Amino acid sequence: MQTVTVELGPRSYPVHIGEGLLRHGDVLSSAVGDGSILVVTNDIVGPLYLASVLEQLPADRTRTYQLPDGEIHKTVKSWGLILDELIRHKVSRDACIVSLGGGVIGDLAGFAAASYMRGIAFVQLPTTLLAQVDASVGGKTGVNHAQGKNLIGAFHQPRAVIIDVATMATLPDREYRAGVAEVVKYGLIRDPRFLRWLEDHTESINLRAPETIMHMVEVSVRNKAEVVAADEREAGSRALLNLGHSFGHAIETLTGYQRWLHGEAVAIGMVVAARLSENRGLLQQGSTERVAGLLDQLGLPTAVPDDLAGASILETLALDKKVMGGRLRLILLEALGSAVVDASSAPSEILEAIEGCRA
Ligand code: NAD
Ligand code: GLY
Repeated sequence: MQTVTVELGPRSYPVHIGEGLLRHGDVLSSAVGDGSILVVTNDIVGPLYLASVLEQLPADRTRTYQLPDGEIHKTVKSWGLILDELIRHKVSRDACIVSLGGGVIGDLAGFAAASYMRGIAFVQLPTTLLAQVDASVGGKTGVNHAQGKNLIGAFHQPRAVIIDVATMATLPDREYRAGVAEVVKYGLIRDPRFLRWLEDHTESINLRAPETIMHMVEVSVRNKAEVVAADEREAGSRALLNLGHSFGHAIETLTGYQRWLHGEAVAIGMVVAARLSENRGLLQQGSTERVAGLLDQLGLPTAVPDDLAGASILETLALDKKVMGGRLRLILLEALGSAVVDASSAPSEILEAIEGCRA
C-alpha cells in the first residue's frame, strides 16, 4: 500500500492506494471514527463491492443508502434524499459518510457530508479510474442543476480516501479509458517524466496490468495532491487541471452529453489546446502530434468531429464561465509537461486550432 498525504494544514488527509483495500486491511475501519456511518453507493457498484465494505464496518452503527446509477441522479433531489436518511435516523455530528462509487456518488455524498449539520466527516472509496485519480482528491463536492453541471456545491475535504485498484477489474472499457485521459493530463500540465513513462507503458496500461495501474494512480494522486495543496480553492494554479476541459465541455454540450464520456471529450480538448499552443509559438513544433499519438494509442478520440462547426464550438466556449475581458481564458501548454493560464488567444486563432484538429 502507498499513502499520499494531501497537505492542507488541519484539513490534511491520507490517500491510501493498494490492491484489495476494500476487502481487507484496517484502513477503512480506522478512518470512519466512532459515530454512526452511512455508506452511500449506487445500484451498479453496490452489488459488486458493498458486501466487502460492510464486512469491515461495525454492523450496529452502519447503514447503507443506495441510489440509482447515473449522472442524471446527481441532483438536489438525490442530495435531499441522503439528508432525509440522516435526519430520519437522528444521526449526530460525529457521524461519517462513506462514498462507494465513481465521481457521481463521491460528489453527491461529499456534498451531503459538507452540508449536514454544517459539515460531518466523509471518507471516499472511489471505484472508477477518474474518481481515483481526480474526483476523490481535492474536496470539490456538489450536484448538477438543470442549467448546468456542478452549479451547486461546496469545498469539503474528506477525512481519508481509500483507493482499491482491484476495482478496475470490473470497470467498463470506455470508463477506464476516460480515466486514462485525466491521467495523461497530469503528465501534460506538470510532469514530463510521467508523460514519458506513460508513452513507454501504453501496452500495459491498455492491458490494465495491476502494477501499471498502481503506479499510474499513485503518480496521478501525488500530482493532484500537490496542486490542491498549493491552491485549495482554485484562486490560481488549480485551474491548470482544466487543460482540455473548456474545449471538451463545449464538445460535450454540442453533442448533448450523449456521444462521448467526459474524459473522451477532454482528450479531444487537450489535442486542440496543444494545437493552439503550437500555432501560437508557445509549444515546440510537432508536440501536438506527440500528444495525439499517445492518446490514440490509449484508445481515446483525438479529432474534432466533422459535424461540429468550428463557429458553434467557439460560440459555446464563449458562453463558458472562463471568459475574461472578452477574451477566453484557456489552459495552454508551454512545453509537454508545463501548462499556463492564458487569456490572449484571438477568436481567429482558436478557430484555426479547432480546424487543425479535424480527422
Ligand atoms: P460515474 O460515477 O458515473 O461512474 C461511471 C460508471 O461506472 C457508472 O455507471 C458507475 O456506476 C460505474 N462504476 C463505477 N465504479 C465501477 C466499477 N469498479 N466497476 C463497474 N462499474 C463501475 O462517473 P465518473 O467518471 O467516475 O465521475 C464523473 C463525475 O465526477 C461527474 O459528475 C463529474 O462532474 C465528477 N467529477 C468531480 C470532480 C471533483 O473534483 N469533485 C473531478 C472530476 C469529475
Ligand atoms: N477536477 C478539477 C479539480 O479538482 O480542481
